[in-house]
Amino acid sequence: MNSHDAPERITVLGATGSVGQNTLDLIARMPERFAVEAVTANSNVDALADIAIRFDARFAAVADPACYEPLKAALSGTGVEAAAGPGALVEAALRPADRIMAAIVGAAGLAPTLAAAERGATILLANKECLVTAGPLFMRTAKAGGARVLPVDSEHSAIFQALDPALSRCVERVTLTASGGPFRTWSMERLAAVTPQEAVRHPNWSMGAKISVDSATLMNKGLELIEAHHLFDIESERLDVLVHPESIIHGFVAYQDGSVVAQMAEPDMRTPIAYSLAWPERIPAPTARLDLAALGRLTFEAPDSQRFPALRLTRYALETGGGTATVLNAANEIAVASFLTKRIGFPDIAKIVENGLDRSATERVGEPYSLDDALALDEWARDVALSMIPERLEQVS
Ligand SMILES: NC(=O)c1ccc[n+]([C@@H]2O[C@H](COP(=O)([O-])OP(=O)(O)OC[C@H]3O[C@@H](n4cnc5c(N)ncnc54)[C@H](OP(=O)(O)O)[C@@H]3O)[C@@H](O)[C@H]2O)c1
Repeated sequence: MNSHDAPERITVLGATGSVGQNTLDLIARMPERFAVEAVTANSNVDALADIAIRFDARFAAVADPACYEPLKAALSGTGVEAAAGPGALVEAALRPADRIMAAIVGAAGLAPTLAAAERGATILLANKECLVTAGPLFMRTAKAGGARVLPVDSEHSAIFQALDPALSRCVERVTLTASGGPFRTWSMERLAAVTPQEAVRHPNWSMGAKISVDSATLMNKGLELIEAHHLFDIESERLDVLVHPESIIHGFVAYQDGSVVAQMAEPDMRTPIAYSLAWPERIPAPTARLDLAALGRLTFEAPDSQRFPALRLTRYALETGGGTATVLNAANEIAVASFLTKRIGFPDIAKIVENGLDRSATERVGEPYSLDDALALDEWARDVALSMIPERLEQVS
């Protein structure tokens, strides 16, 4: 809470999504502590207008310019300012909120989140793709602007809680856990026939469609490796992934004296979101309490990068550097969207990403030093990925 005991003003980018809704659920429970400044969505006008009115926001923006008139009409007479288009998302990020939840999905979140970093905001970062797409640029901008970046991803929230910055030189390894997704035990043959409905049904977490597919391919964990590298300044060699199907331990840090410090909680995003909303304090979250005796046992196994090649591909991107991760992210976004619309099969996602990485090696893509660089490289990689889709379309139809 700020020093005057006035509610802290929170902007929620991606307010209509899974992380956005969980954030608003916590905010609604503590009206004396939090108020909403601005909210955004892509095109979900009805849900966004409902949120803006319910939370008495000052500003509501949709990314899709075609949604401006319907949003304006839905907010008419409410006092909430309506806006649309990519510039409106940046405007939302620049409004004087105490904290900004960055919960847009995909590289679409880069421009507004970068604007928030530039203005020195406290950013609650769920949008991992913006770190994958432009990690060095984002972290540099945040540092120069005096922004604070608080991780929202449960694994990174765990590491943030376990990693004492004063002891970073004493850290031996940092481990992110992975549930293994819905197909952890499936054979290659079964994986070839996975449907979008099966892929979005995560065993432990309730999430948006894109991250659910990323969890099923293990791409999500790979993106998180890159995210952890940028957030905690830890090189690939000291970053591990461990499959832990119960999703109770979210991450841990091993120190040079043999101690391992881990964070545990039931798999409910409201715990890490509450942590980021209140940091450095803590607030109550309405989540199930951990009962280890009832659980009885926790299990662990090594990830299988043969059935789930995404981990290998993301390691490659992380270790190669330059613009490789930008290309990986863009190719993955195109591949996931194509899979969700049944234009390609599940194993094709990794193939399309790998093809993008091959092209990025041939073209020797450099690191994006500006937002424009990042967006141009992102667009190029999307075109490369899209060029692979029709071939498969013919086979499927
Ligand atoms: N869900 C989780 O539990 C979880 C956990 C950790 C990290 N994350 C990360 O958090 C981010 C959000 O995930 P999510 O699961 O909440 O996604 P989601 O449910 O799909 O919601 C995405 C949000 O972004 C908006 N959006 C989509 N495309 C956009 C565009 N082109 N321009 C502007 N806004 C756009 C959506 O608006 P519309 O409703 O109008 O489409 C929606 O508000 C992702 O980066 C994900 O990796 C999520």
